[in-house]
Amino acid sequence: MSAFKDNLLVGKTAFVAGGTSGINLGIAKRFAELGAKVAVLGRNPEKAANAAAEIGQGALGLTADVRDYAAIRGAMEHAAGEMGALDIVISGAAGNFLAPALGMSANAFRTVVDIDLNGTFNVFRGCYDLLARPGASLIAITAGQAVNASPLQIHACAAKAGINQVIRVLAMEWGPEVRVNGISPGPIAGTEGMSRLAPGASADGGHQERIPLKRWGRIDEVAEAAVFLCSSSASYVTGTILDCDGGSQLGDASRRDLTRGMA
Ligand code: HXC
Ligand code: NAP
Repeated sequence: MSAFKDNLLVGKTAFVAGGTSGINLGIAKRFAELGAKVAVLGRNPEKAANAAAEIGQGALGLTADVRDYAAIRGAMEHAAGEMGALDIVISGAAGNFLAPALGMSANAFRTVVDIDLNGTFNVFRGCYDLLARPGASLIAITAGQAVNASPLQIHACAAKAGINQVIRVLAMEWGPEVRVNGISPGPIAGTEGMSRLAPGASADGGHQERIPLKRWGRIDEVAEAAVFLCSSSASYVTGTILDCDGGSQLGDASRRDLTRGMA
């Protein structure tokens, strides 16, 4: 149940890189429901068109590869030309697969760092002069793996750790005109990410006992966190990473079950 009013984002424009599926599409849809004009971007034109149709409200579905600075800059210029200065920019494009470091070529490592980390730099660097300033809000989608090491994820751990520092540095350089924050989702049900990282697991069969809130999260719960960060309710919040992960980052909560019945 959302605490936000239906007209919260009327008059705002939002650009969501990686917004053509999964968590970021959920964020884009929520922004549009709250009245924002929305553009979503991915590489696949059919996915982009379908996402824009699903969002409705005249949403733009754009294509570019976030690894290509000129292309992503062009897409953002297009969006700002159609919708006006950008109030909200989300950098959420990511690539991932499970592989041990010794099973990963230099190109495989570079590919994920390029999409996640360099892509985030490109999106944020490229949008600055298109932003509605003061007041614009940028959000990068990171992950707990930025902080906690995870085997088979050396590429994504390194990339997301870098993203956390991009967030912090830009918050220092671009305040007070622009706020820059991150969201760190935990395991989110029904996403490409979970099907890649926990193949065969499901929202009710994937180590939920380890999570303090005892379940995987939902896309709409991450969308609510994004709405908070770009709303005026977060006007004094910048440079932070908001964990939306049921407490997953705290460690393995299943150990509390060892003491069940003892106290
Ligand atoms: C080892 C692999 C591999 C695998 C690809 N590669 N898959 N190596 N194991 N399973 C290698 C390839 O052999 C190649 O290296 C290099 O990676 C680049 O592969 P391409 O297919 O050419 O790359 P590209 O077409 O750019 O596609 C990028 C991709 C792809 C990441 C490989 O899966 C993709 O587009 N993913 C986008 C969607 C996605 O992953 N969503 C989930 C995000 S979830 P060589 O040496 O052969 O050239 C997420 C969760 C976060 O981010 C939580 C954890 C941080
Ligand atoms: P997803 O559905 O695979 O979404 C990835 C999006 O990025 C798609 O729109 C994809 O579109 C786009 N994309 C990928 N590579 C791109 C590139 N090079 N250039 C432009 N766009 C590109 O992923 P998801 O599982 O919802 O994850 C979304 C975000 O949440 C990611 O940042 C991920 O790291 C983070 N996250 C997810 C989870 C989880 O549980 N799923 C947990 C922690 C963090 P195209 O394929 O058309 O390019």
